Amino acid sequence: MSGIDIVFIANKIIEKLSALRTEVDCAIACVSGGIDSTTSAIIAKKALGEKVYPIFIDTGFMRMNEGIKVKKALEGLLDLEIHDYAEQFISRIEGLEDAEEKRIAFREMFYTVVKKIADEKGCSWVVQGTIKADVIETVGGIKTQHNVLTNAILQKYGFKVIEPLIDLYKNEVRALAKYLGLPNWLIERQPFPGPGLLIRTVGKLYREKLELVRRLTDLVEQWFSERGFSQYFPAVWEYDVIEHRDSKELSYDVYKVMVTGVLEGKRTYGHPVIVRGSPISVDLYNVYKLFEPKLYPHILIEIGGRDRGGYVVAIRIVKTENFIVADVGRVGIDELKKLAETVMRLEPEVRVVAYDVTPKPPATIEYE
Ligand code: XMP
Repeated sequence: MSGIDIVFIANKIIEKLSALRTEVDCAIACVSGGIDSTTSAIIAKKALGEKVYPIFIDTGFMRMNEGIKVKKALEGLLDLEIHDYAEQFISRIEGLEDAEEKRIAFREMFYTVVKKIADEKGCSWVVQGTIKADVIETVGGIKTQHNVLTNAILQKYGFKVIEPLIDLYKNEVRALAKYLGLPNWLIERQPFPGPGLLIRTVGKLYREKLELVRRLTDLVEQWFSERGFSQYFPAVWEYDVIEHRDSKELSYDVYKVMVTGVLEGKRTYGHPVIVRGSPISVDLYNVYKLFEPKLYPHILIEIGGRDRGGYVVAIRIVKTENFIVADVGRVGIDELKKLAETVMRLEPEVRVVAYDVTPKPPATIEYE
């Protein structure tokens, strides 16, 4: 993308938002620290000035110390107000198990909180970092993206929405962010889903599991940073095997938990499979082809295991341009084994560590 395009795009967005000046009383801009919401807030502030209040809501599903880190990184660009609602979010969602139910509960909670903050400030508008891919995936029925607002939700909460980036693809958002002066740290940061660690605490949500995901996220992010991967993260589910197969050709376990996939633009929902040992005559990165993707959307290979502990840790690394299709990050097996050993040394409750070898499609990038 050339600089001229970006100047044109930026001016067009500012022009469009400035036209709302008389209509907008004031607007809450929810900044998560991701590139989309941050870029939206900055460009909205350029167009609407003091009428825009940038806020960071701690949902309890953010990475460790995220609010403080983001506030610091944005000093001089945005004066972020941090609102801590972690306890309220976690106690509302605790005990829920179904992926879509968890996403919907998160979204409802999120907009209830946004509405409360907006009311406190007397604002009837909200700035959202929705981008084109979010809309495409939600309209396609793949999953409920928490930041895509349907008319029903807008009516329910009663606010009006400003979506500066709705016509842009991710690479255009990156170019725009650069043009607006966002720090490189933030521009190059891997995307983090709106519902955050909630959708990486796979299956039933409870606190011990969530805190395990939070600690592992720190470890995995440090381990794979600056390696050029698009996204790299851990997810956790219970060690609860519903089918166990041992054979000379292929040994694997099917887990009870349900995870998401995508086929022909439609969402699938099935069990993850972890292959044990080295399957005969199949490259580990092709082993997913041996399984029916509709039933088993994510295929992983075991990189560490022992006989005690109640959790499975899935390590997911992808390379992608647009996040609609993605390749698996190819990491050497020795390094993966070293990571698994570290995880098991630090976390006594972890029983199995596995590496996801499924591209998107048939898997989704996340597990829920
Ligand atoms: P999936 O799992 O659908 O993920 O292949 C595609 C990309 O979208 C991110 N993602 C989300 N981002 N709100 C977001 O802002 C969400 O609800 C959400 N769900 C998935 C995911 O991390 C990946 O980058």
